[in-house]
Amino acid sequence: MKHMKYKCNKKNVFYSILALYKLTYPFLYWSFCLVLATRESAFVHAIASAGVAFAVTRSCAEGSATICGCDARHKGPPGDGWKWGGCSEDVEFGSMVSREFADARENRPDARSAMNRQNNEAGRTSLNDNMFLKCKCHGLSGSCEVKTCWWSQPDFRVIGDYMKDKYDSASEMVVEKHQESRGWVETLRPKYNYFKPPTDTDLVYYETSPNFCDPNPETGSFGTRDRACNVSSHGIDGCDLLCCGRGHNTRTEKRREKCNCIFHWCCYVSCQECTRVYDVHTCK
Ligand SMILES: *[C@@H]1O[C@H](CO)[C@@H](O)[C@H](O)[C@H]1NC(C)=O
Repeated sequence: MKHMKYKCNKKNVFYSILALYKLTYPFLYWSFCLVLATRESAFVHAIASAGVAFAVTRSCAEGSATICGCDARHKGPPGDGWKWGGCSEDVEFGSMVSREFADARENRPDARSAMNRQNNEAGRTSLNDNMFLKCKCHGLSGSCEVKTCWWSQPDFRVIGDYMKDKYDSASEMVVEKHQESRGWVETLRPKYNYFKPPTDTDLVYYETSPNFCDPNPETGSFGTRDRACNVSSHGIDGCDLLCCGRGHNTRTEKRREKCNCIFHWCCYVSCQECTRVYDVHTCK
């Protein structure tokens, strides 16, 4: 039953964790993100802990690990025209492993630990928030006489977009110190009380992001000089914003491309090569 959805490859759950750690660690290490308690840092932590939970959950459903499997809970009565079947992904187990793994070092009584714990958890809840019912039809030649459904995690891309929205609406906090019996403890409080306070599923940060316009080796910012920009966009990729008001240079670039392609019966395509001229804009 558990082999219905996926091609079964013999990955092991701990191998996945290790691979994911290797993948994300250089990124964490490289980015300024790790140093400062910024909005970007919040995003990186959330997406990394969601990634661990996601990978573990998927390996469990694929049957690659013996310590976990499908989620037999939260089934409820069958719906209209379908019944439960397949393997519901057990996101709670994946989240538990991620919590053990990603939060292991976040037990200091300081503000940064509190921030990381919150953002890690927000990343993991994003999986729960995006689970959906995936269904499959059974019947003669693709007819849908019987439909079985199971809970599935979304594409990880969906989680990325979801976290990007959370990044845009992240809450700025201030650090408060309290004297407790175990010593000084730092906690976070919303900086502005006219905004809705963050819930457990929101991202929080307490340091403002460095100015990405200018190079700064301390923060790891490369600056935006020589970055290609879009002259007709008013967004973040537009020359006005990306070049931080310094203006841009324009040069023309010739590119050879395939053109006038013709389809011949049967079956190949022949093309000519044309030279096209493009305007390329880069920041001053
Ligand atoms: C530049 O921005 C415009 C307007 O947002 C968009 O339509 C166009 O596709 C962009 N061009 C590139 C190369 O991204």
